[in-house]
Amino acid sequence: MTDGIGTMTQNNSANKTVSLNDLTSQMVIQSYSGFPGKFRSMDKATSEWVKHNFKGTSIVAEREGKQLEFPVENLNEGDTLLRIQKFPQTLERLLIVNDKLINELKSRGFTKFEVKIVNKPTNAVQEKRKNSVQKAEKLIQQVKESIEVRDKASFAVESLMDNGRKGKANTKEIISFVDNIITNSSADAITAIASLKQSDQTYAHCVDVGAIFQVVYQKLIENMKVKNVFKDGREVLLSSFMHDFGKSKVPKEILDSTVRFERDSKEMQMMQNHPVYGAELLANMNMPSYIIDMAHFHHIKMDTSMASSYPDSIKWDDVRLEARLIAIIDIYQALVGKRSYKKSWAPPAAMKFIDNLAGVEYDLDIWNEFMKIMGRYPKGSAVELSDGSQAFVVSVPEKDLSRPSVVIVRNASGEDLKHHTLVDLEVEKDLNISKEIDSFETFGDNVIELFASLQVI
Ligand SMILES: [Fe+2]
Ligand SMILES: [Fe+2]
Repeated sequence: MTDGIGTMTQNNSANKTVSLNDLTSQMVIQSYSGFPGKFRSMDKATSEWVKHNFKGTSIVAEREGKQLEFPVENLNEGDTLLRIQKFPQTLERLLIVNDKLINELKSRGFTKFEVKIVNKPTNAVQEKRKNSVQKAEKLIQQVKESIEVRDKASFAVESLMDNGRKGKANTKEIISFVDNIITNSSADAITAIASLKQSDQTYAHCVDVGAIFQVVYQKLIENMKVKNVFKDGREVLLSSFMHDFGKSKVPKEILDSTVRFERDSKEMQMMQNHPVYGAELLANMNMPSYIIDMAHFHHIKMDTSMASSYPDSIKWDDVRLEARLIAIIDIYQALVGKRSYKKSWAPPAAMKFIDNLAGVEYDLDIWNEFMKIMGRYPKGSAVELSDGSQAFVVSVPEKDLSRPSVVIVRNASGEDLKHHTLVDLEVEKDLNISKEIDSFETFGDNVIELFASLQVI
């Protein structure tokens, strides 16, 4: 088979060699292999031009009768160019075939290319990217709008507990905030805020747990083919907001104490009574059994003999799915949140930690579903990529949980960017997440403001 103009030659199973006239938008160029006469025994100006315009590539050239491969910067006067290959990502515009590139290649006289045929037309990939950018912009906007919604809801939880302490608790106080979260679809944003803002141990904790529960529950029961026990969305949020309602029977100075109590201390026993108190209070308010159970059983571990499993004398088999799920969300939020006696964990580190306890302390099936919905790198997590740049996670990937979409905020040289490129790691296979990073240490205390002001491109 010839590889002259108008024919395509199979070079290997993935790549084909084509002439300029055969380039289409369904191709991505892998290397340039046909050049006009001036690239034969090049003069100095031509070799400098190649070095400048193809920075970072590798060259195959003929030098003194030998065929050699070397980095472009080693190109010499007198070399005959045979191939330009191994393009870095920064030269992507010279690879993705479109009308502009074809015209440019024509004007330069390049004649032959090795190409990869992309399965999906390039515009479908572009469409997917546009979609991801829009979703990221929506998340950022919702985070911006939900910061206040979350703060107000935390105050409402605090006031509910204060009133509960005086025997005057009324869920009406909190229902308007529940409705606010539902109307503004803030729950998803609050799960990201939980990663970005260090919450306290009691009030914002309840709001974050509630928001995460609402986001996860519906999908989880669909995936597990289990029936929804709740009457409506309002009840889903309210029940999870109230899981620690028993804490309203714990004196405020113990509840808000910055000291970590000894295991057998009176204070610790009081704290550990909060599930029983909660069940009593909710029963007195005529709440349905599943809401009472969520408050009663959310600290029960699979191994009920553990000191961290309370109250005693409850069998794991009697703990319903809703309480097992809230237990997982409770520990996740407790790790990610700030406590006076510990700093907050990066969300991916919290996910890894609980992953090791799933099947031992926490329900394995529910955990696996939870992780599919939240991702290994929950939204709002800060990560470092394999090229050294730093980014925020903005999506939960559908297939590979370790490859979400991320928005780059700081480049590999440590410079803060003004415009923030979205990278879909499910598409950009050359990049990986190399590690999670502590967003507060890396970006400072105003990390949520930084996230809320991202300009995604
Ligand atoms: Fe609790
Ligand atoms: Fe809790």
